[in-house]
Amino acid sequence: MNYQWYPGHMTKAKRQMQEDIKLIDLVIELVDARIPLSSRNPDIDELGKNKARLILLNKADLADEKKNRLWRDYFKNQGFYVIELDARKHTAMKSIQETILDSCKEKIERDKKRGIKNRPIRAMVVGIPNVGKSTFINSFAGKACAKTGNKPGVTKGKQWIKINKSVELLDTPGILWPKFDDQEVGLRLAWIGSLNDNNIDTEELALELISFLVKEYPGALSGRYGVSEDRKQTIEILGEIAEKRSLLRTGGEIDRTRAAALLMDEFRSGRLGRITLEVPQEEQSNG
Ligand code: G4P
Repeated sequence: MNYQWYPGHMTKAKRQMQEDIKLIDLVIELVDARIPLSSRNPDIDELGKNKARLILLNKADLADEKKNRLWRDYFKNQGFYVIELDARKHTAMKSIQETILDSCKEKIERDKKRGIKNRPIRAMVVGIPNVGKSTFINSFAGKACAKTGNKPGVTKGKQWIKINKSVELLDTPGILWPKFDDQEVGLRLAWIGSLNDNNIDTEELALELISFLVKEYPGALSGRYGVSEDRKQTIEILGEIAEKRSLLRTGGEIDRTRAAALLMDEFRSGRLGRITLEVPQEEQSNG
């Protein structure tokens, strides 16, 4: 689902988040492992400042394994709990449960001292559109997905999913607005398909991606399409992809528009391999 964000949407989303955050102990923030910074909105740090914080590097299956580790360390160093995740897989959910308890150990301890027993940890899931929030909630809640609503002391209308006796999840995820004011960030969001493609020149997007891939992932394009990556303008490589895939217009001319759409689609679905589009700053400066 693609969103168009306007200032009004952002104010509303922020206000909603401010209200919801009051009800919870833990913020579970999903980011896209291919662009962990560009898919975040740092405003969540201010909004969730007194809460336990867990970052899920989601779609880790599509991202470069080595770079997943770099990002995990990067966020850990900043004091977040971090897990690499493919939200479609139920197998990862046990370790998430353990990490949730770990991240809230101070609260659990405090409750114990006050004589409060068995008060579940309340958590909410947040992230930009399309990052995998619903997929994660479904996998995490599984079959045990029993909704509990309108408890005394809980804002009317809020629905909680009881995961088990120690964790409850707010059933509606918080939607964070992407920060696409920086052009580079906008480009990366467009690459992974998080911006509305209708407003984007797909050919331009594909050419930028080709340029990135030739530099950072040499062999990815030649491996997939049998094109040569040497000494070529990006537009020639796109043309060669069209040729290799017999994407022609009536009249026999190569169809770069369709080649661009094909490339974007195959990149987004992981058919070009596991690719990460940004690395932590300090890595960049160290070369
Ligand atoms: P949202 O609530 O944050 O908006 O995201 P949602 O769960 O709807 O997920 C958006 C898309 O991302 C879905 O694909 C979903 O299957 C996919 N997805 C979620 N988590 C992961 C993951 O860890 N790895 C991979 N590879 N994909 C993930 P879709 O194209 O909308 O649907 P579908 O065709 O995959 O069913």
